[in-house]
Amino acid sequence: MMSRVGVGEASTTRPVVVLVGAAGAGKGTQASILAAELGYRHLATGDLFRSALRDRTVLGEQARVYMERGDLVPDELAIGLVAEALADQSAAGGVILDGFPRTAAQARALEIILAAGGDQISRVVAIDVSEADLVARLSGRWSCPACGTPYHLVYDPPRQPGICNNDGTALTQREDDRVEVVRARLTKQIPPMREVIAHYRAADLLSVVDGSLPIDEVTAAIRAEVGA
Ligand code: AP5
Repeated sequence: MMSRVGVGEASTTRPVVVLVGAAGAGKGTQASILAAELGYRHLATGDLFRSALRDRTVLGEQARVYMERGDLVPDELAIGLVAEALADQSAAGGVILDGFPRTAAQARALEIILAAGGDQISRVVAIDVSEADLVARLSGRWSCPACGTPYHLVYDPPRQPGICNNDGTALTQREDDRVEVVRARLTKQIPPMREVIAHYRAADLLSVVDGSLPIDEVTAAIRAEVGA
C-alpha cells in the first residue's frame, strides 16, 4: 500500500500546503493571498535566499552564483534552510510552502522534516501555465523587496504605480528576471519539477490547477483543492 508523504504514525498538528510550479506560474502570488486569507505562514525559499543575498550572509554568498545563472541552489542548502524555518512551530495556523521542494531529494527530505515535527503534507497543488505565458509574466513582474509580494505591470498592478499595496515600499525588479536568466531557469528547473510532481502524484497528494486563469480564479481553484 502507498504510504502518505511525511506521515509515519504522527498526527498532523497544522495544515501544510505545497505549491509547485515553474518560474512565473504564480506560486508567490497565490501563496501570499492564501496565507493572508487562511492565516497560514508563507514560506518561500526564493525570498529567504534573496534576503540572505541582500544581507550578505554566508548562505547568501553560497547561493549567489547558482541564482545568478538560473540554476537551483544545491539541495543541502535549500533543505537546511527549510528545516530551520519549519522548526519554528509558532505558525500553528498552517504553512504554505512556495518554491520547496524543487527536486525529488528535497521532497524526500521534507517528509522527514515534517514527520519529526508531527506534521504531514495536506495537499500539493501544481499550478500549470504554458511556457510562453511564463516568460511574459516574468518580464513584467515587479516585487516588494520588503514583504516579497509580486505585482505585474499589466495583469496585477499595484494601486499606486511602483509602490507596494501592503507596506508602501518602492517596488523593484528581480535580477533573475532578465530574459536570458528566465530562459535558463525554465530550461534547468522544469525537469526536476516534473520529478517532484510525479513523486506527489504517486503519493496521491497532487492536484493540478489551470494557472492561466485570472488570479482570483486560480485562488478559488486552489482553495477548493486544499479544502479551505
Ligand atoms: P523563486 O523566487 O522561488 O523563483 P521561481 O520559482 O523561479 O518562481 P518565481 O518567484 O519567479 O515565480 P512565481 O511562481 O512565484 O510567480 P509569481 O507569483 O511571482 O526562486 C528564485 C531562485 O532561488 C531559483 O531560481 C533558485 O536559484 C533558488 N531557489 C529557490 N528555491 C529553491 C529550492 N527549493 N531549491 C534550490 N534552489 C532554490 O508571478 C509571476 C508574475 O506573474 C507576477 O508578475 C504576477 O503578478 C503575475 N501573475 C501571477 N499569477 C497570474 C495570473 N493568474 N494571471 C496573470 N498574471 C499572473
